[in-house]
Amino acid sequence: MQSISTGLLYFFALGVAGYAAFVYGFLPLGSLVHPEMKASFLAHSYAIYTHAFASIVALVIGPFQFSASLRANRPKLHRWLGRSYLTIGVLVGGLAGLYMSQYAYGGSVARLGFALLAVLWIFTGLCAYVAIRRGRFQDHRKWMIRNYSLTFAAVMLRLYLPASMVAGIEFTIAYPIIAWLCWIPNIIFVEWRYNAATHNKAI
Ligand code: HEM
Repeated sequence: MQSISTGLLYFFALGVAGYAAFVYGFLPLGSLVHPEMKASFLAHSYAIYTHAFASIVALVIGPFQFSASLRANRPKLHRWLGRSYLTIGVLVGGLAGLYMSQYAYGGSVARLGFALLAVLWIFTGLCAYVAIRRGRFQDHRKWMIRNYSLTFAAVMLRLYLPASMVAGIEFTIAYPIIAWLCWIPNIIFVEWRYNAATHNKAI
């Protein structure tokens, strides 16, 4: 069961990262998005490219950082990957995401959803960093799990969007809802799983 969920984590994280790298690396900007989003991307091209490529770094590095064998056998690599994850991925990707959130498609509901996601992404990353600098390993692990559940919003968004299309929900209605739905269940899920796991260990 554990290996299936780990496999799915790698599959979706690397799949969405590869997709985004291809689309933003090789296709003209905004090729595959709604025309209004395209106009906003063209008006803020530096920010959307910075956001997409920096965030890809976080999406790709994340799953490897949870590998116990990598942490045990290559602690230096774990530290360097962690620093890249937090600085390039979360900090740069998150600040550019926060900037883009004010222009997001879907009005103030979508904008607030993305803005809060960006703030929490940076905040949980900061908490994880502070915890490890103070030698609090359990807290570091807990904050990193929370943080990556927010990174995973990128995957959930790209699963909910086609699902909403298949369900026949209009994009104008679906998008602002998905701006929240892509991250709130993730954080609830990891909180529930983490508490259940620590409770089981205690008894
Ligand atoms: C977790 C914090 C994140 C926040 C707050 C965030 C925020 C945003 C915002 C506001 C937009 C513009 C949407 C619009 O104009 O309607 C956007 C687009 C985009 N984001 Fe993020 N994002 C996050 C994570 C990620 C990650 C981890 C990736 C990695 C693949 C990513 C890749 C993209 C891409 C490729 C786009 C362009 C839209 C598309 O082609 O689907 N984002 N993001």
